Amino acid sequence: MTTALTTDAIIAVIGAGTMGAGIAQVAAQAGHQVWLVDQNNDVLDNAIAKLSAGLEKLVGRGKISAAEAEAVIGRIQTTTDQHDLNGTSLVIEAIIENQAIKHQLFANLMGICGADCIYASNTSSIPIADIAKGLAYPQQMVGMHFFNPAQIMKLVEVISSADTKPAVADVVYHTAVAWNKVAVHATDTPGFIVNRVARPFYAEALRMVSEGMGDYTTIDTIMRQAGGFRMGPFELMDLIGQDVNYSVSSLVTEALYHPLFETSPIQKALVDAGKLGRKSGAGFYDYSQDLPQLNNQASADTSGELTIAPDEQILSPIWQRLSAAGVSTRTGEQTSFNGIQLRLHDGAPVATSEIATVAFDIALDFNSCTALACQRNSACTDAQLQAIANAFAAAGIHLIEMPNQAGLPVSRTVAMLANVGADAVDKQVCSLEDADKAMRYGVNYPQGPFIWADQIGVAWVHHTLANLAHHICASRYAENPWITKHVLEQRNFYA
Ligand SMILES: NC(=O)c1ccc[n+]([C@@H]2O[C@H](COP(=O)([O-])OP(=O)(O)OC[C@H]3O[C@@H](n4cnc5c(N)ncnc54)[C@H](O)[C@@H]3O)[C@@H](O)[C@H]2O)c1
Repeated sequence: MTTALTTDAIIAVIGAGTMGAGIAQVAAQAGHQVWLVDQNNDVLDNAIAKLSAGLEKLVGRGKISAAEAEAVIGRIQTTTDQHDLNGTSLVIEAIIENQAIKHQLFANLMGICGADCIYASNTSSIPIADIAKGLAYPQQMVGMHFFNPAQIMKLVEVISSADTKPAVADVVYHTAVAWNKVAVHATDTPGFIVNRVARPFYAEALRMVSEGMGDYTTIDTIMRQAGGFRMGPFELMDLIGQDVNYSVSSLVTEALYHPLFETSPIQKALVDAGKLGRKSGAGFYDYSQDLPQLNNQASADTSGELTIAPDEQILSPIWQRLSAAGVSTRTGEQTSFNGIQLRLHDGAPVATSEIATVAFDIALDFNSCTALACQRNSACTDAQLQAIANAFAAAGIHLIEMPNQAGLPVSRTVAMLANVGADAVDKQVCSLEDADKAMRYGVNYPQGPFIWADQIGVAWVHHTLANLAHHICASRYAENPWITKHVLEQRNFYA
C-alpha cells in the first residue's frame, strides 16, 4: 500500500512568493526539513521574515508554542542554488505561471534530483502533461495544487497526467493528508476541479445582473444571508482580482468550449478599464467609500394568517419560524399567507395563470437564514407582498423581491454548480465525493454541490435546469446526462 512520505524525507519548494513560502511552512510544520529556493536572496529573506511574523502571530494567539514556531522556521533552509537539492524526495514548484520556464526548471531539477524524486507543480492552469513533455521522468511528475493562503486553505488537488505513475499520485495524496490537508484526485483537465466547478458561482451572478435581476449588493446579500456563502460573488471577484478571475474563466471557456462556461462582457469591461477589484481600489464596488448595504424596508408585523399544507417539507422551517414569531397558523390544503399561495421556486417565472403566488429561493438552512429572495406573479398586490415581508421581518428574515424572471440567485447557482460538477464527474475529472470536498475546502463553500442537490432533491435540480433552459438559454442550462440518469433512476447523488 502506498503511504505518505515519512518526515525524514527532504522537501524542496521552488519559488518563495505567495504560494511557495506558505507551502514551505506547511511541510516544515509537518516535520520535514525544507529547502526554499528562489532566484535571489532578498526574496528568500523576505519570505522567511513574513513566515516568522505569521508564526509569531500564531504564538500570540496560543495556537502554537514559541518553541514550535522556532523549530518550524529552523527546519526551512533557503538557497538560490538548485544543486543543494540533491537528495530531495519531493520538489514542489511554485514559480511564475509560464509553461516554458516551468518546463526548463524541471529539466534542470531532474538532472540534480534523479529518477526517484517526485516532481510536483503548483500550477493553477497549465496541463501537467505540457510541462512534463520531453522531460526525463514524466512518470514522476504530478500536480500538487494548493489554495491561497496555503497555510490556511485545506484543499490540495493532486493532478495526474496520462504519464503520471499512480503510485506517485498516491504518495502525494497521502503526504498532503499527513500535512493536515484534504486531498482530492483530479485528472489533467482545464481548471482541474475547483476552478472548473466554481465557474457558475461567478457566471450566474454576472448573468443575473445583465438580465436586470438585481444589482451587485442585492445578489451578494442573498448569496451570503440565504446561500450561506462567506462572500457574495461580486465581493469575491473583487477580492480575487477581476483580471485573475476573468483569465481563469477565459481559459476554461476556451478549453472546454461550452456555453456553461461563457465569460461575461461586464467583467471584461472592468478588466479593460483597469478596475481590478480591491487591489486597484475599485471593481464592482468602490473601495474608497463604505460599501452599500441593502436595507430591509419591511417592519415586523404578525397580523396575517398563515395556512400550512400538511405535506410541506422544504419550506417548513420558515413556517415554523413565522409561527414562533407570533403569526397565527392553521393547516389547509395549500400553504398560503392571507390567501396568497407560497411555494418553492422552480426556475420558471411565476405564471400569471397561477392564483396570487409568491415563490421562494432556496437557502442553505431555512432554520437560520436571515434573508430569502422571492418572486410573485401580478395577481399578488404590493400590499399583499408587504404583509408577507412584514411577517418575515418578525421572524428575522429579510424578504427580498426580485423581478419575475427565470431563476433566483441561490437556486440558479446551486443547480448550475451541480450541473457543472456533474459534467466533471461524467467526464472522469474526479469522483462525486472529491468534487464536493474540493468545493468545500478549496473555496469554502458551505457544502458541496451534490450534498446540496440531494438536500433539495435531484428532481428539483432537474426541473430548475429545465425551466432555466426553457426561459433563458437551452444550451447553457442543458442538463448533464449524468443528472438525467439519476432522475430516471429516481435516486439521489449519494445513494
Ligand atoms: N497566488 C495564488 O492565489 C495561487 C494559487 C494557487 C496556485 N498558484 C500558482 O502558484 C504558482 C506561484 O504563484 P504565486 O502567486 O506564488 O507567484 P509569486 O509571483 O508570488 O511567486 C513566484 C516566485 O517564484 C520566483 N521564481 C520565478 N522563476 C523562478 C525560477 N526559475 N527559479 C526560482 N524561483 C523563481 C519569483 O522570484 C517569485 O518569488 C503559479 O504557478 C500560480 O499559478 C497561485
